[in-house]
Amino acid sequence: MANTYDFGLVGLGVMGRNFILNVADNGFTAFGNDLDEEKVSALIEEGGDSAKVNATSDVVTFVNGLSTPRKIMLLVPAGKVVDIVIENLLPHLDKGDIIIDGGNSFFTDTDRREAYLQEKGINFFGAGVSGGAKGARKGPSIMPGGSRDAYQHVKPIFEAVSAKYKGEPCVAYLGPKSAGNYVKMVHNGIEYGLMQLTSEIYDLLKKAGDLTNEELHETYASWNAGRLQSFLVEITSEIFEQKDDLGEGHLVDKILDKAKQKGTGKWTSQNAMDLGIPVPTIDVAVSMREISALKEERVKADALYGRPTPEPVVKKTLINKTESALYFAFIITYAQGMHQLADASKEYGYKLELGEIAKIWRAGCIIRAALLADITEAFKAEPQLQNLLLSSSFVDKVQETIGAARELVAYGATNGIPLPGLSNALTYFDAYTSSRLPLNLIQAQRDYFGSHTYERLDKEGVFHTEWED
Ligand code: 6PG
Repeated sequence: MANTYDFGLVGLGVMGRNFILNVADNGFTAFGNDLDEEKVSALIEEGGDSAKVNATSDVVTFVNGLSTPRKIMLLVPAGKVVDIVIENLLPHLDKGDIIIDGGNSFFTDTDRREAYLQEKGINFFGAGVSGGAKGARKGPSIMPGGSRDAYQHVKPIFEAVSAKYKGEPCVAYLGPKSAGNYVKMVHNGIEYGLMQLTSEIYDLLKKAGDLTNEELHETYASWNAGRLQSFLVEITSEIFEQKDDLGEGHLVDKILDKAKQKGTGKWTSQNAMDLGIPVPTIDVAVSMREISALKEERVKADALYGRPTPEPVVKKTLINKTESALYFAFIITYAQGMHQLADASKEYGYKLELGEIAKIWRAGCIIRAALLADITEAFKAEPQLQNLLLSSSFVDKVQETIGAARELVAYGATNGIPLPGLSNALTYFDAYTSSRLPLNLIQAQRDYFGSHTYERLDKEGVFHTEWED
């Protein structure tokens, strides 16, 4: 059995098992490895009599069973486990072998691992994989970064197993070092933003428009048939349909309103701050998960302060306006994420092609949306575009929808309905499109109390004023 399998996968949890079965479905032979014997047996059973899939808990058998250069993907929890698995594999590998980390690893960990493995002649890839368990099985979006030459060995497998958008694979070599993990991190930041927006619009429709779950289902389903078509809008419409199997009514109403997080959204925000790139819609999406966690305090505060009773609205008008506002805010969220990628590309030397990234997000991943076809076109037409809002192809889309965003933000503020994603998207837009902001005053204040100096509009150079004189 020595050196036969085309592809190896360590970590036979839900994602790993689905991914390896997908590899086998696409004509490659695949060998799985996990310390857990039950997971090994489950995969062998699921693979049936097919000679295409096999699994073992023994690392030596596993490594010896792979054709060279070995292509070994890790689908294990991010963090220490990745290092442990690498150390277990290392003594048995040969120079030129390829390890691919398919988890949500922090990008600086990927840089560290790549440098460490490079010294040993092993190629290391950080490859973001998006699409959940179903995506892993039927076609995820894959975001690999690492050595371009080594990628040629992995390319045929990744192109075969990835999701397809009109026949085009949703995978592309993205850049050196941790480019793949970085792009996946920002993908998740955008995911946080879009999820926050879809949930606060639901709140607005429910509180202001009194929509029932059936109506919410129909509304999101009809949006999904139009310009808002996207995986998240689609699953949202389905969520409203789901009946509670443990009691009366709809399941969504029984779910505790505390959202958990594994950290990728927070990393996106933190790193955007480090880079000096504003992504306020993503920031506030992270903050909202944190506010949601303060359930007990929120209950106490609600009793202390209460809130206004929402003014009545015409349901049909509200639905039309929320559709426009959501579309506007989706554009802004992608614009912020792409802006961060453009800057990170320069800072970390990734040489990212934003058009390619938007292209591989059109299918398979959690943030797939009709809008990404337009974003792909915008970056293909202008590869150096600094911000989506500067693309002439987006001006009309924004102009047409921003009025609704303004009206709803005002309505939410007056009626005590929190719309943090939408209002931040709007504020970001208004600030980004202001040729003059009041930050001249901040410069004056800084110079007043700390002699920090300022620049002038009308003269070159750096100035300081003795303000108190
Ligand atoms: C994907 C997702 C996935 C992520 C979950 C949970 O692209 O398939 O981004 O990688 O782990 O969405 O993320 P949180 O637990 O942070 O919400």
